[in-house]
Amino acid sequence: MTAPSVSLGLDYKPLEPPLLDEPFPFYARLRQEAPVTFAPHFHLWLVSRYADVMTVLKDPRRFSSRDILRPPVDLPADLLQLLEASGYTPDYPLLGDDPPAHTRIRGLVGKAFNMASVNALEARIRTAARTHVDALLRGATRADLVSGLAWSLPMDVITELLGVPREDGARIRQWIEDEKLFFVPHLPPDGLRRAVEGVAAFRRYLRAMVEDRQQHPREDFLSTLIAARLEGERPLSTLELSNLLNVLVFAGNETSTNLISTALLCLLRHPGLWQELRANPAAVPNTLEEVLRFDSPVVGMMRTVTEPTQLGGVELPAGARLLLLFASANRDESVFEQAARFDIRRANANRHLGFGHGTHYCVGAPLARLEARVVLELLIERLPNPRLVAGESVPYLPNLIHRGPQRLMVEWDTA
Ligand code: HEM
Repeated sequence: MTAPSVSLGLDYKPLEPPLLDEPFPFYARLRQEAPVTFAPHFHLWLVSRYADVMTVLKDPRRFSSRDILRPPVDLPADLLQLLEASGYTPDYPLLGDDPPAHTRIRGLVGKAFNMASVNALEARIRTAARTHVDALLRGATRADLVSGLAWSLPMDVITELLGVPREDGARIRQWIEDEKLFFVPHLPPDGLRRAVEGVAAFRRYLRAMVEDRQQHPREDFLSTLIAARLEGERPLSTLELSNLLNVLVFAGNETSTNLISTALLCLLRHPGLWQELRANPAAVPNTLEEVLRFDSPVVGMMRTVTEPTQLGGVELPAGARLLLLFASANRDESVFEQAARFDIRRANANRHLGFGHGTHYCVGAPLARLEARVVLELLIERLPNPRLVAGESVPYLPNLIHRGPQRLMVEWDTA
């Protein structure tokens, strides 16, 4: 057994600078010196090499997703009651399921969320993106492209998918923020109360929507999901449906925002690429794959070891929790030549693990790619020469899983 370098695990401080802004040199050291190492502060084993991450992703029996999201333990009785009354259960369908439970739900979701249904959304996504870009450019020559654009489009798409009024987007966004807080360990009591109230309100909202569509089906994604059946299987229950919607909204929002804003940042930090894409918009899809590889919006995901096992030469006990660092695997030189270089022509960019791999491969990947492509194509067409505003910082929100600029000040000349 190779002894893991404990000191490197100790140095894992992703929620503060310098790692918060630039984690990649640290990942390179991990891959080189301690590819599977324990980070005591988070009680997590960091897995940083592409091959080891793949081994885990391909083996859901030894590496379970059951414990992927951990709700707070020891909630005060009144908050517990509030949660239970809302219909909340600590189940996170798909993300937190292993086969065979996972297989059934994934099959049903696949029926509603297939390529054809996503493509059918393209025209509506394009209209929504145009409205936001028009509003952004009207009379302005500089703006924050995160709050002004990258946030709004994925939220429109979610409300479209759910078939709820667009005005509900602001409430839903707040509930997502509350639910993110819910998973932060050791919250102060007022923060915890706010988080629980948000989670409970969101569950009530989702449940009401499911019940409404069960009684009054429409031509929308949710009604298709409700109607979906697999041969010999029972349909999804109301509780399973509202928990599943919660996962879809939670998993599909900030991730897409971060892909859009990171793509803009990567392009504007590399002079000449904007013009290159303007001349050849057909290169946008591969550019997005390279963004997903180069600066992955989902930094990593958890797994739990189900039996004593070896990974990368390190012995892991049953119950060990792993953080699979996709963002590091995507910079692994054994798979990606000159991995630290942002190259929109990279031939194997789409081998990235930015959407995971195998059983839990992102169910929303076609939608996320479509949203980002549409918005990027539109901006490239409309903005001849955007630039990052000199002297403005690009802050990142401290988060173990998500990564993306929180503000991106950009200026441009009018066309
Ligand atoms: C799974 C990333 C957009 C819904 C995943 C996983 C990753 C990921 C890495 C694998 C998790 C694991 O292995 O445990 C991303 C990124 C996105 C994005 C980077 C945007 C750029 C979306 C969207 C939706 C969505 C738009 C839904 C509308 C899901 C769901 C799963 C998942 C439900 C779990 C799938 C399963 O367990 O079978 N995503 N995602 N994601 N994603 Fe996404």
